[in-house]
Amino acid sequence: MVEQKRAAARAALKYVPESGVVGLGSGSTAEIFIQELAPLIAAGRKLVGVPSSHKSRALAMSLGIPLLSDDGPWVIDVCFDGADEVDPALDVIKGGGGALTREKVVIAASKKTILLVDASKLSARLGEVWSVPIEVTAFGHASTAAHLRAYGEPVLRMRDQKPFVTDQSGLIYDVKTGPIGDTRALDARLLGIPGVVTTGLFVGMTERVIVAHPDRTEELVRA
Ligand code: A5P
Repeated sequence: MVEQKRAAARAALKYVPESGVVGLGSGSTAEIFIQELAPLIAAGRKLVGVPSSHKSRALAMSLGIPLLSDDGPWVIDVCFDGADEVDPALDVIKGGGGALTREKVVIAASKKTILLVDASKLSARLGEVWSVPIEVTAFGHASTAAHLRAYGEPVLRMRDQKPFVTDQSGLIYDVKTGPIGDTRALDARLLGIPGVVTTGLFVGMTERVIVAHPDRTEELVRA
């Protein structure tokens, strides 16, 4: 699986500009991409990154990749990130690593977004495989969860027997929706719940998905 992630990351390098601003995603595939990007910068490409998590920032810094501040505003030429589940329209579920809010902010500031996945992430309908991660404010989170229950059982994400806390001090509920009919409508309803910060539904935000199969890579482009 790591080799497939690396194959997708390498296939993405041709979309890295000679100079400009690059969004750096989060998660294991994005981290491999960051590792693959560093030598290009060392070789002279004039690139600066915008990372979407503390972890990606630390990795990029350790590899000598120049970075912009977390404050923005950024005009990002192209963002490279991973995903958890990808449907045929290239709408996706993200947030398995808990970085969904920053990832969405970075992608929304990007002219283009290219996602890197292995073939196991492809799905006929979002929600068939993954729960939808929802970042909520810690304040009143159990009340927010009561509203989420209308869409599927919300499970508070835990790490080391404590609630998982995001980079901006939020909590995450993973909501088992089952296959989603209208992703955009569901996203809008979830975003309307007080206490919801972001959903892991990324609708209409992806231009290209590079899919690594065991023997080849394939590129899917949004219609
Ligand atoms: C991070 O919060 C996520 O959105 C990741 O991009 C997603 O979970 C994919 O992660 P992997 O590349 O580790 O599978």
